[in-house]
Amino acid sequence: PWKHCIWSSMLFNVGFLEAMKDLDWDCLVFHDVDHIPENDRNYYGCGQMPRHFAAKLDKYMYLLPYSEFFGGVSGLTVEQFRKINGFPNAFWGWGGEDDDLWNRVHYAGLNITRPEGEMGKYKSIPHHHRGEVQFLGRYKLLRYSKERQHLDGLNNLNYTPEISLSSLYKNITVDLHPDLAPIADY
Ligand SMILES: *[C@@H]1O[C@H](CO)[C@@H](O)[C@H](O)[C@H]1NC(C)=O
Ligand SMILES: *[C@@H]1O[C@H](CO)[C@@H](O)[C@H](O)[C@H]1NC(C)=O
Repeated sequence: PWKHCIWSSMLFNVGFLEAMKDLDWDCLVFHDVDHIPENDRNYYGCGQMPRHFAAKLDKYMYLLPYSEFFGGVSGLTVEQFRKINGFPNAFWGWGGEDDDLWNRVHYAGLNITRPEGEMGKYKSIPHHHRGEVQFLGRYKLLRYSKERQHLDGLNNLNYTPEISLSSLYKNITVDLHPDLAPIADY
């Protein structure tokens, strides 16, 4: 059983696959909607390594909470994103998928870069994850990041999008549930 308000990083994979149908993009920025950049020199571009843009959040007193933190806003080339098999689909509710992404980056032999100094500052709009379930299964999944990396991600995702075009945006609606990305039982 699942509730339709539960979020999964599967949505990022859907966004990626749909964007690639539009144009031959080469750089992707995955952005939490509640993170507002404070410095317009924080250039949203890709490089040799995946980039973690949201290095200093006001909610963490503008300090990196831990060195493996990869949450909020991140950027990868299409090549890097395919190499790590995208985001995990198996994380439901909130929490953990960004740590899994960091693991994927490192297991793929990559590392992350971050903007220096003031540039990586963000305001995060305060809200409680009301009605959202914190994902308690994340610790177990994170222990098997390496084993799951090539089983769970871009390569096991199935979905049927409902697409409508407006003048300023494309509305992509998907009905997601865990069966759309079955994974080995780790
Ligand atoms: C990864 O990058 C960080 C800085 O972003 C650096 O401190 C660390 O040594 C690097 N690790 C590897 C394995 O290259
Ligand atoms: C997008 O499409 C869905 C499904 O048709 C609709 O329920 C939703 O209101 C639309 N949202 C926007 C922002 O256009």
